[in-house]
Amino acid sequence: MEGDDVAYLEAARTVDERAHSDAATRAFRAALGVGEGVDAEGDPVCVLEAGAGTCGLLRRLLADGALPAGEWVAVDTDERVLSAGRDLLREEAHAAGYGVDAGGVGLRLGSPDQEAALRVRFETRDARDVASEGTFDGVVGRSFADLLAPDDVLALARTAAPDGWYHLPLTFDGETRFEPSHPADGAVVDAFHATMRNRGRAATRVAETLREAGTPPAVDARSDWTVRGRGDGDDARDAGTSGGVVYPADEATFLRIVLDTVVASVRDAGAVGDATLSAWETERTEQLRRGELGYVAGNRDLFGRVP
Ligand SMILES: C[S@@+](CC[C@H](N)C(=O)[O-])C[C@H]1O[C@@H](n2cnc3c(N)ncnc32)[C@H](O)[C@@H]1O
Repeated sequence: MEGDDVAYLEAARTVDERAHSDAATRAFRAALGVGEGVDAEGDPVCVLEAGAGTCGLLRRLLADGALPAGEWVAVDTDERVLSAGRDLLREEAHAAGYGVDAGGVGLRLGSPDQEAALRVRFETRDARDVASEGTFDGVVGRSFADLLAPDDVLALARTAAPDGWYHLPLTFDGETRFEPSHPADGAVVDAFHATMRNRGRAATRVAETLREAGTPPAVDARSDWTVRGRGDGDDARDAGTSGGVVYPADEATFLRIVLDTVVASVRDAGAVGDATLSAWETERTEQLRRGELGYVAGNRDLFGRVP
């Protein structure tokens, strides 16, 4: 995305959390041994998280009291986002009463009753390299599988063989909609999707590849990002920087970064005339300021077993 990646990932958190499908979340947490209805602590697990970013998914498990015991390898090629994630995870675990030991670049999070601990290792590397060096009980990649070729996603999932699982929530699937509609939407959105591999249909292609390889998703559920404002523009502040007045949490910042990203990629591709693109951007920016801009991106949550 265009802009500060830490700011973008943090602004996306409430949007991400609203989007997750219950079915995939349930399957994922059951695999971790922390799901509803799981009475006893499960066996310790060893999880690879590819493209962990600011550790939003792990921080959600922490906030829900659903951290598993075992080892979590959080991998991201971007040192800055990963170290922001480490700091946030440490602060939030401390505030939640966990015993936190920070050794080297890792963290050991001891549960408040001290009965279980999760060791989190942070690796600033390509997840494909880390995956090729080990085996894991499970592989997680949130808003990540659309960044790799489907065969690379399959190779990642296979590091959980035999008897492991993969969880690929919020995998983009090539649908983008802005509201209210604008005459240039078709041209802008088509040009944006054309800059992506397979026109952005990543979840469809990844699911096909996993199916053909004998590791079909057991859960394949929609998990669209949906953002809508209150639309009472009179008291709107500058939505590009402050957020929080006409959109929930920091979602105005999220939308600002999405708009900037769409405009920059379409401009680079040169597929839409400058005047049309500028008029579209001006109108969308004004709608954002007034809290009238809506946005939907089609994602899917894929969860499956790796025999
Ligand atoms: C859209 S962000 C998602 C972050 C996080 N999973 C979340 O849901 O908040 C994708 C992340 O993948 C990282 N990334 C991209 N390619 C990667 C690769 N080959 N190996 C590891 N990380 C990668 C990026 O640096 C970025 O932080």
